[in-house]
Amino acid sequence: MKKEIKAEITVYETTHELPGAEQKLLAAAKNALGKSYSKYSNFQVGAAVLLENGHIINGANQENAAYPLCLCAERVALAAASSQYPESPVTAIAVTVRNPKHKIDTPAAPCGACRQVMSETEDRYNRKMKVLLQGEEGEIYELASAKDLLPLYFTGDYL
Ligand code: THU
Repeated sequence: MKKEIKAEITVYETTHELPGAEQKLLAAAKNALGKSYSKYSNFQVGAAVLLENGHIINGANQENAAYPLCLCAERVALAAASSQYPESPVTAIAVTVRNPKHKIDTPAAPCGACRQVMSETEDRYNRKMKVLLQGEEGEIYELASAKDLLPLYFTGDYL
């Protein structure tokens, strides 16, 4: 017996093709790039989450001389949102990156740890989180759920 795992990605050629609310969210993620504290990797990541109550909360990666303490932008944004509006479900997240050494023109995929936290956030609010990914420029990927990025996810149901 075999099981097949499928994920659907909607690809937009430019930001202009996105619905207005998503353009705004991606713009917030790009704006957050400027708040990255990344003196060790020089790699900037900006994230923005949209809450059901309409608020947009930003996050940028925050590094530390003790490298394992570096915080990813996605988890910074999700933790900030949960700290400020714990009652409001997260409906979407946009993630973008900038590498000063070369332009990244392909969508940036969140790391595994961030995917797990995004998955937990969906479980917590029982709501799918739309995921928007873009490099510094180029096409945009849209996924309907964080679990499309992490099909075999760990959940609290196991505990
Ligand atoms: N980083 C993120 O912010 N998000 C990810 O999903 C992957 C990596 C950050 C962590 C570190 O500051 C830099 O990118 C290089 O790994």
